Amino acid sequence: MLEVRHLDKYYNPGTISELCLFSDFNLIVEDGEFLCVVGSNGSGKTSLLNLIGGNLSLDGGGIFFHGEDITKQKDFLRHRRIGRVYQNPGAGTCPGMSILENMSLADNKGKHYGLGRGINKQRIPYYKELLSGLNLGLQDKLDGKVSSLSGGQRQVLALLMATMNPIEFLILDEHTAALDPKTAELVMELTQKIVNEKQVTTIMVTHNLRYAVDYGSRLIMMHQGNIILDKGKKEKAGLKVEDILGTFNEISIECGN
Ligand SMILES: Nc1ncnc2c1ncn2[C@@H]1O[C@H](COP(=O)(O)OP(=O)(O)O)[C@@H](O)[C@H]1O
Ligand SMILES: [Mg+2]
Repeated sequence: MLEVRHLDKYYNPGTISELCLFSDFNLIVEDGEFLCVVGSNGSGKTSLLNLIGGNLSLDGGGIFFHGEDITKQKDFLRHRRIGRVYQNPGAGTCPGMSILENMSLADNKGKHYGLGRGINKQRIPYYKELLSGLNLGLQDKLDGKVSSLSGGQRQVLALLMATMNPIEFLILDEHTAALDPKTAELVMELTQKIVNEKQVTTIMVTHNLRYAVDYGSRLIMMHQGNIILDKGKKEKAGLKVEDILGTFNEISIECGN
């Protein structure tokens, strides 16, 4: 279980541009939940992921993993427990390196012999097996540079790398936003497949209401640092985009989008 308890977060405190983004914000994500987060621009979605991921410090409250207060846990320890995929396909992979080198890097993440290009040849069949599961033919391109892959292929590879080691939480921040609709759908299908297979607790921010409705097990909508809508498993099962579109348009207009 992941808990955000009584979170406060300010940007630029004490200045003319002070912004109180979160004030006593609370969120509980149960084990195995696949939470989809939508919301207006600037509602705090990315900030929330950064606060959970340890890339941003809190001004009040705490973050708890399975009841353990990890608010002050060292970044590298927290990063081991979290897999993350970003919006930019270049962020989750090393473009100048081959698929094999990238997979080895991910495989070695957090192990004492550290990051290195050191490739364990015995692991190659395992990498190939993982890649075959994607049905993109990447298992036959192990020596190809990641820079030669399409944005969608890179995002899928980033997803695979993020979930290769046992992780407790998977964080996805608009990881399909830079892709064309067809590729984005494919990446979403693979995301759901990987989440199901790994049974990993997932938080996915998406700009796409349909993805938030069609995928995952729970949906929340955020606006100005608050959760204004929360649809759990049962409610979400019958949910349609039309059911949440009105609220989404209202908050978007309020933000001038
Ligand atoms: N580093 C920062 N410094 C100052 N303000 C920031 C910073 N990052 C985000 N903000 C502000 O916080 C609000 C929430 O931003 P963000 O979390 O990126 O929202 P979202 O991902 O929902 O669009 C916005 O008003 C944004 O301008
Ligand atoms: Mg964002």
